[in-house]
Amino acid sequence: MKIAVCGKGGVGKTFIAASLAEHYAACGHAVLAIDADSSPNLALSLGLPREEASRIVPVAENEELIRLKTATEYSGVFRLTFTVDDIIAKYAEKTPAGPNLLVMGTVKAMGSGCTCPAHSVIKALMRHLVVERDEVVILDMEAGIEHLGRGTAEHVEILLVISDANRKSRETASAIIRLARESEIHDIRLVGNRVATPREEEILKSCALENQVPLAALIPFDRNVAEAGISGEAVRNTGAGAPASIALLAQDLAGTNEKKSLRRSPQ
Ligand SMILES: Nc1ncnc2c1ncn2[C@@H]1O[C@H](COP(=O)(O)OP(=O)(O)OP(=O)(O)O)[C@@H](O)[C@H]1O
Ligand SMILES: [Mg+2]
Repeated sequence: MKIAVCGKGGVGKTFIAASLAEHYAACGHAVLAIDADSSPNLALSLGLPREEASRIVPVAENEELIRLKTATEYSGVFRLTFTVDDIIAKYAEKTPAGPNLLVMGTVKAMGSGCTCPAHSVIKALMRHLVVERDEVVILDMEAGIEHLGRGTAEHVEILLVISDANRKSRETASAIIRLARESEIHDIRLVGNRVATPREEEILKSCALENQVPLAALIPFDRNVAEAGISGEAVRNTGAGAPASIALLAQDLAGTNEKKSLRRSPQ
């Protein structure tokens, strides 16, 4: 199962991506959590101590690795084909919450026709993760889905667009949904987060309706989660509140994904 999580800055992407990854790991799945944000912080949410988290070098910034993969004997000329499967074995970190974590980092000129070596490694790695791996892969993305690139996006099985009730968050969510449709992601769902009042619930329901996507979950505002954010600690799963809603969401996603793959595989 390949799930990408995106939405405007601060809407709760990392919290939700980490909670989903932790849930699937606790259910016995092999899980790869990918931090594809330019200011990565998924490591802390998955329980890695701060010093360990700060020692992680994102793949895009690992000059030795990039050189190893792409250098040729001619200066200014780099290889375009190389293997990336060994990167996960070498650089993914086992986290206390269970999932393996790979921090991608970003390349400044990502997107628009950039052809630098770091970009080609990230592109190939993204493709490998989304198209070829067997694990449950959870991607914590930035606001948009530009990272995925052509040929990779359409293999994302479920795109979760996170929004709180704020207008700007909803506008960003709508823009992402439009882009995702163009990039042929088939299963796009809205997740309402930090829902504190019936009015916010109604606003998020309307947002899903207007964008013609299912509302996958309404995750309540949770004081424990907010406190964990303030202290910078990982959220303790109390089995109630927001973590409980995310556990239900995880079960629901796994259920529909299983049905989809049953439909795909001929009997
Ligand atoms: N349901 C919730 N209830 C209360 N607080 C929440 C909830 N979801 C997220 N938060 C808090 O909101 C803050 C932002 O969450 P998070 O870091 O997951 O967002 P993000 O979208 O990943 O942000 P960024 O764009 O900066 O990466 C955190 O302090 C987190 O603890
Ligand atoms: Mg984040």
